[in-house]
Amino acid sequence: MSIKEIVCIGAGYVGGPTMSVIAEKCPHINVTVVDLNEDRIKAWQTDDLPIYEPELLDVVKVARGRNLFFSTEIEKNIAKADVVFVSVNTPTKTFGKGAGVAANLEFIGKCARSIRKYAKRDLIVVEKSTLPVRTAEALEKILHSGESDYHFEVLSNPEFLAEGTAINDLQNPDRVLIGGRENETGQKAIADLVEIYSNWVSPEKILTTNTWSSELSKLVANAFLAQRVSSINSISALCEKTEADITEVSKAISMDSRIGAKFLNASVGFGGSCFKKDILNLVYICRHYGLNEVADYWDQVVIMNDYQQTRFVDKIIATMFNTVSDKKITALGFAFKANTGDTRESPAIIIVKQLVEERARVYVSDPKALKQAKHDLDGLDVVLEEDPYEACKGADAVCILTEWQAYKDLDYKKIYANMNKPAFIFDGRNIINPQELYEIGFNVYPIGKAALER
Ligand code: UDX
Ligand code: UDX
Ligand code: ADP
Repeated sequence: MSIKEIVCIGAGYVGGPTMSVIAEKCPHINVTVVDLNEDRIKAWQTDDLPIYEPELLDVVKVARGRNLFFSTEIEKNIAKADVVFVSVNTPTKTFGKGAGVAANLEFIGKCARSIRKYAKRDLIVVEKSTLPVRTAEALEKILHSGESDYHFEVLSNPEFLAEGTAINDLQNPDRVLIGGRENETGQKAIADLVEIYSNWVSPEKILTTNTWSSELSKLVANAFLAQRVSSINSISALCEKTEADITEVSKAISMDSRIGAKFLNASVGFGGSCFKKDILNLVYICRHYGLNEVADYWDQVVIMNDYQQTRFVDKIIATMFNTVSDKKITALGFAFKANTGDTRESPAIIIVKQLVEERARVYVSDPKALKQAKHDLDGLDVVLEEDPYEACKGADAVCILTEWQAYKDLDYKKIYANMNKPAFIFDGRNIINPQELYEIGFNVYPIGKAALER
């Protein structure tokens, strides 16, 4: 079958950019992204896109109206689809069995029911969302139970894009992973999906596996990445006690080609919608199969991440003479990483909340995430101020929580001049030069390095 009509359910951080790049690279295929959320769909139709992602608008503009469409008409679009990508959110369950750890598959299940109901031909259904292993089986069961006469072939095609670099990750992926059944219809569907990606990805980068390997690989990739961050963060705590310097240690280990250089930046902890959720998922699956030692091993990655965030706040309090009550503390950065407006699971949320609990007067600045911060900090007495110089005026302490380039380039002399003294700076991302700031007059507290205090 030659694919002519692609539909994607879910116009979020994954579905939106992924479909935009498929449409850009495959002008001969119509790509329609559908979502229940009318505001989101409307925003995708304007130049004020619902998510901030560098270069995204350029790609959207190439294809939108040509072969890229955004719509709330789920029924009509499923009826004409050859392939349906499912890219809806799969949050951690907040209720019932598995609350706090298992994935909530409610939205996925609803999609499967819509597909079964509205399909007008045999279809390939692609899992794009990150899902627990063997979700494809549940999808197949829902799709094939009940009234439909059509055949639905379920594939797993996890997305590995990182926010902030989504467009480049999609245009030049390290690999594309496609998992399917090992029977004839499964292999045929895999070949159809490979054909789509072949429009811009070279064959040696397209990896095909069985369904379960593909589903599991997505969880494992994120677990390994998160584990690297927790590993380096655990060592940062030790560095602060021993006069070792985490940047030097990182560099020294990264030159071992078996270890590699990426993902070794010590930080206030990892955030984002994927890492914690996927590890908790992995832990839940392991426990389900009675693999308690394996579950405990991965659980520790999340425990270490929580520890790193609390440790950061504890350090601020201990340094500021054991109280931050009524002191002004400015958080520079609220997004979970630079170059995104996304704040899901951002360490800044926990840190700001803990500082508010300690009765600090907290000011938050961020170039892209203040709208989201307003929502996350609803009901808390926190001031949001986009201009970093204004936000730092009269502050007792500044803490850097997101590694925005703009925060590397600030005039810290000017900031220091307008702060209360003694002036403290806690660099949760190691983006400033501690010696330079010390010379300006600050007491400087980087992550995983000796403090420079007077
Ligand atoms: C190790 C370090 O590699 C080396 O840099 C250090 O100086 C000394 O310790 P060594 O113990 O000689 O070297 O061997 P290495 O190749 O690292 O293997 C260690 C163990 O890990 C072996 O038992 C090996 O079989 C096992 N291993 C290694 C695996 O089980 N899987 C792997 O993928 C790699
Ligand atoms: C991640 C995966 O990288 C991506 O492949 C997957 O598809 C989705 O999850 P994302 O969450 O967008 O992507 O961002 P990523 O760059 O992986 O960063 C995750 C978190 O780890 C951020 O909070 C980041 O600040 C933190 N991090 C990353 C560190 O603290 N140190 C590092 O060295 C790298
Ligand atoms: P991700 O980061 O995985 O892309 P998002 O939350 O950004 O997650 O996006 C998921 C999108 O899926 C949301 O816009 C949501 O409205 C949409 N969605 C969830 N369930 C359904 C459904 N049953 N039908 C259509 N859209 C849905």
